[in-house]
Amino acid sequence: MKVGLVGWRGMVGSVLMQRMEEEGDFDLIQPQFFTTSQKGQAAPVFGGKSSGVLEDASDIEALKAQDVIITCQGGDYTKDVYPKLREAGWNGYWIDAASSLRMKDDAIIILDPVNADVINRGIDSGVKTYVGGNCTVSLMLLALGGLFEKDLVEWASPMTYQAASGAGAQNMRELISQMGAIHANVKDKLENPSSAILDIDRQVADFIGSEDYPKAAFGVPLAGSLIPYIDSQLESGQSREEWKAQVEANKIMGRSDNQVPVDGLCVRVGAMRCHSQAITLKLKKDLPLEEIESIIAAHNEWVKVIPNTREASMKELTPAVVTGTLSIPVGRIRKLAMGPEYISAFTVGDQLLWGAAEPLRRMLRILLN
Ligand code: HSE
Repeated sequence: MKVGLVGWRGMVGSVLMQRMEEEGDFDLIQPQFFTTSQKGQAAPVFGGKSSGVLEDASDIEALKAQDVIITCQGGDYTKDVYPKLREAGWNGYWIDAASSLRMKDDAIIILDPVNADVINRGIDSGVKTYVGGNCTVSLMLLALGGLFEKDLVEWASPMTYQAASGAGAQNMRELISQMGAIHANVKDKLENPSSAILDIDRQVADFIGSEDYPKAAFGVPLAGSLIPYIDSQLESGQSREEWKAQVEANKIMGRSDNQVPVDGLCVRVGAMRCHSQAITLKLKKDLPLEEIESIIAAHNEWVKVIPNTREASMKELTPAVVTGTLSIPVGRIRKLAMGPEYISAFTVGDQLLWGAAEPLRRMLRILLN
């Protein structure tokens, strides 16, 4: 199978290449790497496979020669190239990390541990466009897929704690710069044990509010603060990120015409690449906690129920522990004071792996089978 790879050099693309190497995906395909700026230069070698020279990512004829195109190049590229390619009669599989095509009727949102049935029906009925979901949506469904699959959820309200990576590579760099700059600003006082903490705090607050604090990418402080709004503003009062939760989750599950309400607030915090979510669920019935936990744990091989203890939560349910892994821990599962059908859960997942790259390479594998 000829597989064209676009946007392989960016952050999500690099994670994808790494995962494809780890899983031996390159052994099964004939890769062709595309570029927006370096046509004719030597293509990279991944999985020990050289593949000639880079082709131009806007060359429709070169793209048309591929059986599958996987793109992490971003939404603008998709909006520009995808329609031209289809108009030119290309009928190959388009696998995309960007959101532009997600809600189109002839596109399927891919998250195969949750919706392998939807994907397989799509392939059988000739659907050729497969798009990775929004990261928080995918991570929530991997964590709580068991409850949704058994149709036990009356509604879900995810309150997110989203990492800098979701905003892009520059934002990750800026978060580190912000942390470093804050420390550098008060280093002397910090090292002096007799300095007063309220003086240090005042100086930090002044610095965070000053022009010297680096915030070109985020526009406002993240380190030492948080950002209670992600993506653009919609008429509904939701942010676009918040709007995605219900429409995408239900589309993934193949129940867009019988939607489970999913709505909450999305917040950016100073984590690097793991999104966390505190989710309130109203279940359709009063189930014992042990049963809820075993339904959650049985859903897929990556989800892991963490006991609702202080020790386990602090050690196993954090971005610091989950980063760089495919693990989807879910803990803090307990009944809430509102009634026996109301439960809480807290989950963490790597935004670049399950939240972005992994569903794409798994879709490729499905096509190769
Ligand atoms: N929109 C997400 C975020 C990342 O800003 O964290 C991509 O799904």
